Amino acid sequence: MDYQKILEDIYQEILPFADKGAQADYIPALAKVNPDQFGIAIKTTFGEAYSYMQAQTRFSIQSISKVFALAMALSLEGEDLWKIVGKEPSGTAFNSLIQLEVEKGKPRNPFINAGAIVIADMLMSRLEDPDAEFLKFIRELSGSEDVGYNLEVAESEREKGYLNAAIINLLKHHGRIQNDIENVLMFYFRMCSVEMSCEELAQAFLAFTNYRPFDFAGYRLSSSKIKRLNAVMQTCGFYDEAGEFTYLVGLPGKSGVGGGIVAVHPAHYSVAVWSPRLNSKGNSVMGMKALELLTTYTQESIF
Ligand code: DON
Repeated sequence: MDYQKILEDIYQEILPFADKGAQADYIPALAKVNPDQFGIAIKTTFGEAYSYMQAQTRFSIQSISKVFALAMALSLEGEDLWKIVGKEPSGTAFNSLIQLEVEKGKPRNPFINAGAIVIADMLMSRLEDPDAEFLKFIRELSGSEDVGYNLEVAESEREKGYLNAAIINLLKHHGRIQNDIENVLMFYFRMCSVEMSCEELAQAFLAFTNYRPFDFAGYRLSSSKIKRLNAVMQTCGFYDEAGEFTYLVGLPGKSGVGGGIVAVHPAHYSVAVWSPRLNSKGNSVMGMKALELLTTYTQESIF
């Protein structure tokens, strides 16, 4: 398969969408990013690597970090994790409060903000130095020792984080947060602020193809747990656009409001794409198009 040519062809084909959508501006630091950027990278389970355009430029991974946090939590808690967070798609926006109130503070899944905040709290209870542990884990997954937090982005999100503050207060009211809410929120914002490139993200997500036993920085997951993690990405990774992403792309994946999307073909490859302009559901316009074309041209999706 000539993945390189396919990536280059895809880029030409999606150029008409380059000015569609708008970058996230509810986190002021993200509004400063030049929206006219695009990168894509593939890593195959056979050890090949392909990339095109700005695949080495780092960007804010935002909600993509929720997959890393879930992997750590699943490794630490096993199936007990599902007592504190559900695994059903929400059909609502990533920062919605509606369901959370009706369902008495049990988040629908680990990828909506409420679910990721509960997981952040759990990691804080379990780990001596959660900030350092989280970095150690993603550095080992990505093979990049200098991947790190962007504290300006984290602070910028804290300053305007009214919705997440409402979410964690509701969670605390229902007895679902053990630690100080300000500290938990800050840890959550730091995880979201991590900056990685498409090449680093594709490398990190190769671990979720099960190409080798999952054992990174002491966090182990059986192949059955990896299957389940992919299942949750498939059903919940794109919030109220999870059905559309499954329909168009047909791969488990996860998006972030920094404009990144990662997806996994469990047998063949991981792919990361980035372009800051988002659609109304918070997912990268060019990223969605690129992945739709990738699985169309390669005929490699899980369906
Ligand atoms: O909590 C937030 O709003 C952001 N830190 C993350 C949101 C996000 O990336 C949603 N995904 N598309």
